[in-house]
Amino acid sequence: MTASRDQFNAHADRYAASEVHRHGPSLPVLLDFAAPIPQDRALDVATGTGNTALALAPQVGEVVGLDLAEGMLAHARTRAEAEGHAHATFQQGSAEAMPFADASFTLVTSRHAPHHFLNLDRFLGEAFRVLKPGGRLVVADQISSTPELQPWLDHYQTLRDPSHHAQRTAAAWRTLAEVAGFRWTQETTVPYRLEFGWWTAQSGCTPQTVAQLREHAAVLGQGQREAAGLHYDSSGTLVAHTETMLVVRLERP
Ligand SMILES: C[S@@+](CC[C@H](N)C(=O)[O-])C[C@H]1O[C@@H](n2cnc3c(N)ncnc32)[C@H](O)[C@@H]1O
Repeated sequence: MTASRDQFNAHADRYAASEVHRHGPSLPVLLDFAAPIPQDRALDVATGTGNTALALAPQVGEVVGLDLAEGMLAHARTRAEAEGHAHATFQQGSAEAMPFADASFTLVTSRHAPHHFLNLDRFLGEAFRVLKPGGRLVVADQISSTPELQPWLDHYQTLRDPSHHAQRTAAAWRTLAEVAGFRWTQETTVPYRLEFGWWTAQSGCTPQTVAQLREHAAVLGQGQREAAGLHYDSSGTLVAHTETMLVVRLERP
């Protein structure tokens, strides 16, 4: 958890300015799956600079954003005030031990964040606990296409951002969600092409880390490169990768 807090406090300004996080294509899909209404009291977990919470704000009665990193929350509060969302508030705390009473929300969201959580099962248990019966949890997060590829991807991602923890397959997500008591009701995937230069600069990679990432990519054979979504230019230089985002709607019976 300290790794996430330190990483995101250090790079909060870049995230606040990031178009990928502010307008990336998983956001309209998440909003569509969430189907927010004015009667909702919503919680956005690992809200960062508030992109998802503030997209929900005009459509719900109240929204709370929760995050470990105060540096990220400071941006979210400034933006909420500038945009006039008085019913959007932001609170410091952990996805794995949420500082909220049982059954206190009708909608919980978490976007581009659960791959940082050390205990996904605890997050799912906490989301279940704070939701009222009939409430929904809508998640958008990066996944691995196969269990075999996950160790390579997790190493690649962790080199770039030490606060990365695990990007599971959709099947692993489904098992954990159902064990936590949720019904898995709607799912899709959204591709994100991320340019290598932007992606490494965004998390503050040093030239040494960039070299390690290129070395790690070089161990993959042609078929695995495609499965990992890596893109090369005509000279064989790694230029980008496509991240697959799972968007899923879960319902609490
Ligand atoms: C990529 S950013 C968030 C993006 C944001 N949800 C959006 O839609 O733009 C990931 C966030 O997860 C937060 N985070 C990581 N682990 C966490 C945890 N266990 N509990 C709460 N927040 C966490 C980090 O502090 C960071 O702000």
